[in-house]
Amino acid sequence: MEKIIVYGGKPLVGELESDGAKNSVLPIMAALILNDSGEDIVIENAPDIRDVRVMCKILMSLGVKVTDRGGGCLVFNTANITTSSIPHSLSREMRSSVFIMGPLLARLGRVQVCGPGGCAIGSRPIDLHLRGLKALGARIEEKGEYISAVSPLLRGAEIHLDLPSVGATENVMMAAVGARGETLIKNAAREPEIVDLQTFLNYLGADIRGAGTSTIRIKGPGLLRGGSYRVIPDRIVAGTLLMAAGITGGSILLRNVIPRHLEAVTAKLREAGMDIEEGESWLRARGRPLKGLQKVRTQAYPGFPTDLQAPMMALLTLARGRSSIYEEIFDGRLKHVEELRKMGARISVEGSRADITGVEGLLPGKVVKATDLRAGAALVLAALAVKGQTEVMNPEHIDRGYHHLEEKLASLGAEVMRVRAL
Ligand code: UD1
Repeated sequence: MEKIIVYGGKPLVGELESDGAKNSVLPIMAALILNDSGEDIVIENAPDIRDVRVMCKILMSLGVKVTDRGGGCLVFNTANITTSSIPHSLSREMRSSVFIMGPLLARLGRVQVCGPGGCAIGSRPIDLHLRGLKALGARIEEKGEYISAVSPLLRGAEIHLDLPSVGATENVMMAAVGARGETLIKNAAREPEIVDLQTFLNYLGADIRGAGTSTIRIKGPGLLRGGSYRVIPDRIVAGTLLMAAGITGGSILLRNVIPRHLEAVTAKLREAGMDIEEGESWLRARGRPLKGLQKVRTQAYPGFPTDLQAPMMALLTLARGRSSIYEEIFDGRLKHVEELRKMGARISVEGSRADITGVEGLLPGKVVKATDLRAGAALVLAALAVKGQTEVMNPEHIDRGYHHLEEKLASLGAEVMRVRAL
């Protein structure tokens, strides 16, 4: 057990490079399974985070050879995949294990995973993934915790998603690369990470068009080969760091970002009073006295991302006046409210809406608990604004998606360290 101790109250100042995107690299790593050419695939800019390490273990359990060359460069050889199921413990460790369904089904004609179940941010069904695979010809069976899909031959189909699920769009895209004929995914999610998956698969030899719009067309079957690919920067880590500048009244320059991917976020931060400049691949954020925001609504891309809802809430606890945040994507993603309240934040919740009344300062000396990845990041941000000490327990959640967050913050002048919790 570890904890992060923060002595806050200092403005963060300095420069940082953004890491590769977790939500790009995870589906891309699953998509590697489709390459049966025997050639290596090199992934560059992979973030060194826990979810990537778990995905490496999942791939290795299937027979993939993984070499870590360091510096975010991972090499995969997928020549010898013969196993169609992964150990129960690995399925359970990470929801993204469900991404292997589409590509394994396409490669081997069968797959078995353990249902990823609910998690700390609410119920997270995979019915849309399964319906999509079924439409491509898979026979799905659910027995207890296990879900298996079998199809000796996948065929292209027209699939209309009930809602634009990121994971379902990606899973169906990957399966459709191995299906005979054309697949159309309608009401597809439009996240930049889906565009990245399309670019990656096309680079390896697939024929996919339309990612980034709500209709994606896949012509299969694609014959994939090896190659080298660099994943896009992580817009959620970048957004978190911009908010760290805002909450501490600091000034930071972020390099290796795609400002376009953060438009919904920078618009709201400007509205809250922050000064944000942008170039082609950089963003500079300066904190100013913050003002409250009415109606921050989380939405599918290009709306405000649910993954930045908790960090945004931390920021607004210190903004002058009242704010309201509506969590429209996940039904249980307001667990950080209770922890922020322990720190002196004034927040009330009704259904999916949180109303925040800004306070002058948060209270020192509190011990709070990270309940999930982004909630944990939000608590660290709030702690950076506290004049005094805060302890954030369960930082392992934060490690799922942020590479040594405390080291990044320390490089900007924050007093923050990780210690063993007794
Ligand atoms: C992905 C991201 C996650 C982000 C989320 C929303 C990855 C690895 N994770 O998660 O960081 O918070 O998008 O931007 O990319 N749903 C169903 N049935 C399904 C699938 C989803 O009802 O089969 C619902 C979910 O419960 C949720 C909504 O659809 O309410 C959106 O979920 P989805 O876009 O699928 O999120 P993930 O792909 O799990």
